[in-house]
Amino acid sequence: MPRVRTHSNPFHYYERQSKLDLTSVFPRFNGTLDVDIGFGRGVFFRHYAARYPDRNVMGVEIRKPMVELLKERCQEMELTNVHLIHGNGHICLEDMLEDRSIDRIFAFHPDPWMKKSHHKRRLINHKFIDLMTQKLKSGGRLYITTDVEVLFRDIHETLLSHPQFSEITDDDFWFNYTSHWTEFSQQESRTVYRCVFEFTTSTASESL
Ligand SMILES: C[S@@+](CC[C@H](N)C(=O)[O-])C[C@H]1O[C@@H](n2cnc3c(N)ncnc32)[C@H](O)[C@@H]1O
Repeated sequence: MPRVRTHSNPFHYYERQSKLDLTSVFPRFNGTLDVDIGFGRGVFFRHYAARYPDRNVMGVEIRKPMVELLKERCQEMELTNVHLIHGNGHICLEDMLEDRSIDRIFAFHPDPWMKKSHHKRRLINHKFIDLMTQKLKSGGRLYITTDVEVLFRDIHETLLSHPQFSEITDDDFWFNYTSHWTEFSQQESRTVYRCVFEFTTSTASESL
């Protein structure tokens, strides 16, 4: 396995994508769609897809060697509910998926861009959250982990103040959660911050 840079600047990867026909990429498509953005070595992705064979799981990763590696692993495991894409997560979600098509988005240890001045480069920024409000179904969820406290606080505060996202607990999910980067953080005794937000199409004030 060649050594590859851990973090790629997504601004160097612009390739636009065409709309994806979910029924052609998932042989048993049943309407569910969960997306793992920046799956890296795919530890979480493989565990999750194997555990939930009735959910359709799509992964997007900007580093091609990781996509090739995970494709091989998924084939070895005979996973048929998965689809992997090489590309920039933001662009892929924007171009390939219909609005209100995603049930769950996973963004685990998304990026190293900690400074406010690097905000535009981050995977989870205001533009990404706007995109989530288009692509998530009502009741859809966004799952996030990071070991970078300042990044977590920024993301968490932004989502807390968003009228269409509410923070929820999902203990069952975290009980089964594992990711390469989380294991790595724990080995190095770094705290892993995590949160889950649920999206609704109407705001609380609209429904009064
Ligand atoms: C720190 S690793 C975490 C990998 C995995 N999620 C985990 O928890 O072990 C971050 C991953 O996100 C990928 N990534 C960063 N920005 C991305 C983007 N805009 N689109 C797709 N992948 C991205 C990187 O290439 C890297 O593999």
